[in-house]
Amino acid sequence: MALDDGKPEISLDFESPEHARDWQATGKELRSKCPFAWSTDNGGHWVVSRYRDVLRIVQDDSVFTSGKRFDPATGIVEGGVAIPPMPVGRLIPAETDRPEWDLFRGILNPRLGPRAADKYKARAQSFATALVDRVIETGHMDTVDQFTNPLTAMVTLDLLGFPLEEWALFGDTLHALTSLAKNDPSYGQALAMAAVMDRRIDEEIERRRVEGHPGDDIIAHLMETRVDGEPLAHADIHQAIFNIIAGGVDTTTALTSSVIFHLGKHPEQRERLRADRSLMPIAREEFLRFFSPVHGLVRTVRSDSEVAGHPVVEGERIYMFLAAANRDPEIFEEPEEVILERFPNRHIAFGAGIHRCIGSFLARMMFDVMLGTLLDRIPDYELLEGAALYPSVSPINGWVNIPIRFTPGQRSGDPVPAWMDASVK
Ligand code: HEM
Repeated sequence: MALDDGKPEISLDFESPEHARDWQATGKELRSKCPFAWSTDNGGHWVVSRYRDVLRIVQDDSVFTSGKRFDPATGIVEGGVAIPPMPVGRLIPAETDRPEWDLFRGILNPRLGPRAADKYKARAQSFATALVDRVIETGHMDTVDQFTNPLTAMVTLDLLGFPLEEWALFGDTLHALTSLAKNDPSYGQALAMAAVMDRRIDEEIERRRVEGHPGDDIIAHLMETRVDGEPLAHADIHQAIFNIIAGGVDTTTALTSSVIFHLGKHPEQRERLRADRSLMPIAREEFLRFFSPVHGLVRTVRSDSEVAGHPVVEGERIYMFLAAANRDPEIFEEPEEVILERFPNRHIAFGAGIHRCIGSFLARMMFDVMLGTLLDRIPDYELLEGAALYPSVSPINGWVNIPIRFTPGQRSGDPVPAWMDASVK
């Protein structure tokens, strides 16, 4: 990206491989030279990269909307939280506005808050133990394919109430949808996988409608919910399930994978965390800030307004470069360094305002379980050749593969479920 001081017009495609290679430098340059820029890519949109400007937008949901309309017949998308837009139905609640947003958050909050994180911790730990048991005697594993990706998908399916052996359909689909740019030749295949996932969600809702839906999972809860005596529409239940899968699976995978790679390169930090677990909660927030797994957020201007003194006009789209805002030197000292004990740490990796991540408690729990298990059981791992970042870092900045080797250890003694052995690589 070439930028002359003071010129607000740039060319910046957040999904491009060039951006994936250079995003740290681009973030620095934008923040310092042109924090409010107009990118001519992807139909034209504003780019905001300073922390305070991102906050200004996400905290004013009456002016900056997340709402989305998608017409499957024409493929036309308006609004929503992606640039370029995703040609799929709206995410619920991420792509709703008030008052609809209040309704769906009210329904989902109790199911995804701190109590849910506590409740699912033992399950998450049992998955982590079994996933490590599968490989611990061999001395090597791919931490993405065999650990972070399956674990987050399994916990998310558990919460929702899908059979766990189906985790790969959801985990691999989300991996493909978020890691490929929409102009990548393989993106069509990712959309085809998303259609299979859609059919599976429909089937599950239908099955429960016919057979009943006992139990305490989120799908049962959505189907039992009544608003003014009426059940939720099928499409809304479907899109709420889709949003939980989209939010729950690839984001925490990306965070944990980035940290595994980072600690592979910085054994002294790994040793500090291994030796002093009380550091973990503070260090985790620093990892969230530094790696910002959700690379950017998007809003549409609902009515003419201003951002940082610049006018914005109804209908214009704004890409908020979250990863750059989380390294804003106005807010964070030495922002390009991972400082394990950074405190306070007002990162916005989970967003801010009404749409702030509903799954943050679950995400923190899953991260702690995964990293804690690795530090306990394979503390001496080394990175092998073949680690690969996503070719496109927006919307999610994650890893395709991170192969490691380590001193072989002993299994825990608990049996590995047959479905897990059959479905994990
Ligand atoms: C490290 C992991 C995660 C990160 C970094 C992350 C990040 C975010 C961010 C930045 C937003 C705000 C989006 C916006 O303002 O447009 C968000 C919203 C959301 N997240 Fe997460 N998330 C994570 C994990 C999860 C998990 C585990 C779940 C579910 C189990 C989840 C479900 C959601 C949902 C449903 C929303 C929409 C909330 C709303 O619109 O009110 N996320 N997340």
